[in-house]
Amino acid sequence: MIDKMRRDIHYLRLSVTDRCNLRCAYCMPADGVERMSHADILTFEEIEHLMRLLALLGVRRVKVTGGEPFVRRGTPELIRKLKRLPGIEQVTVTTNGILLKDHLDEIVCAGADGVNVSLDTLNRENYRRLTGADDLNRVLESVTAAAAALPVKLNVVPMRGVNEGELEGLAAMAKRDVVAVRFIELMPVGRAKRFAHLDTASVKAALEARFGAMEPCDDRLGNGPAAYFRLPGFSGRIGFIHAMSEVFCEGCNRVRLTADGRLMPCLGRPDFTDMKGLLRGGASGRALLAALERGIAEKPARHGFLDEARCAGRDMNEIGG
Ligand code: 5AD
Ligand code: SF4
Repeated sequence: MIDKMRRDIHYLRLSVTDRCNLRCAYCMPADGVERMSHADILTFEEIEHLMRLLALLGVRRVKVTGGEPFVRRGTPELIRKLKRLPGIEQVTVTTNGILLKDHLDEIVCAGADGVNVSLDTLNRENYRRLTGADDLNRVLESVTAAAAALPVKLNVVPMRGVNEGELEGLAAMAKRDVVAVRFIELMPVGRAKRFAHLDTASVKAALEARFGAMEPCDDRLGNGPAAYFRLPGFSGRIGFIHAMSEVFCEGCNRVRLTADGRLMPCLGRPDFTDMKGLLRGGASGRALLAALERGIAEKPARHGFLDEARCAGRDMNEIGG
């Protein structure tokens, strides 16, 4: 569907849970979050119902996110159902990789089209410090197993004084195994405000110093605003998501549905439509469709990260990245 800024909105980020089995320092507080209760979370039937309507409005691609999507039981089955919905062409998953290996066969059979694995360090101690879990090896095993079965991308958030010295090693994962390593500029959402982001230009410079000049390529590897580059001797690509240093909102193609049923047209704005309230209040299919349509049409022109006061005020685990 075309929004009022004439953008074609066809991509939905679907958060299936706000829970996570990690506690990444920039995402969750160490002592846990006030979690949404089970009753607050959309059931898979409710999700399917809304997805059917969203597909009617032109959503063709879905990214299943969390929290961590695999901590909710039945996520692979949901993927299977989403893949069968008329109009839905692509379903991918974003995961921290801890449980990916255990569910890999199921999601491959369900028809998943790819996985993004969030990984910010290859150093065991640093991983433990950043995520609160000593599970780096499980993640690496998941990445290797998944890369043999599906297109895998790594998401890396470069942070000053946290993983600054490790970006070359992470980039090197794109030499063979993974189709892309993407460096995402840290967005000041919730807890992430306490960390300093490393801008794309410095990451690029560090990678070029190590691996040689990067060449831009216009591969369309995903649904998002990443710009991709080739490095000499790499079979995979290096991507950059300039969340902060450039405003990418003109090309935005997405909306979000949170686990508690809020349609959020923009990650960086607090506005939402309470789809759960409408669903449970007995709204007709037509009324739900109209609400979704209105919610998407009203998508703001750009995010509010640079004007603090209008920022979302929720943490990333609640919104789904
Ligand atoms: N800024 C940028 N990226 C973030 N992520 C989580 N929090 C932030 C933030 N504040 C990333 C995760 C994951 C993706 C979905 O979003 O690392 O890879
Ligand atoms: Fe979990 Fe992802 Fe947040 Fe880390 S960044 S705590 S893996 S939701």
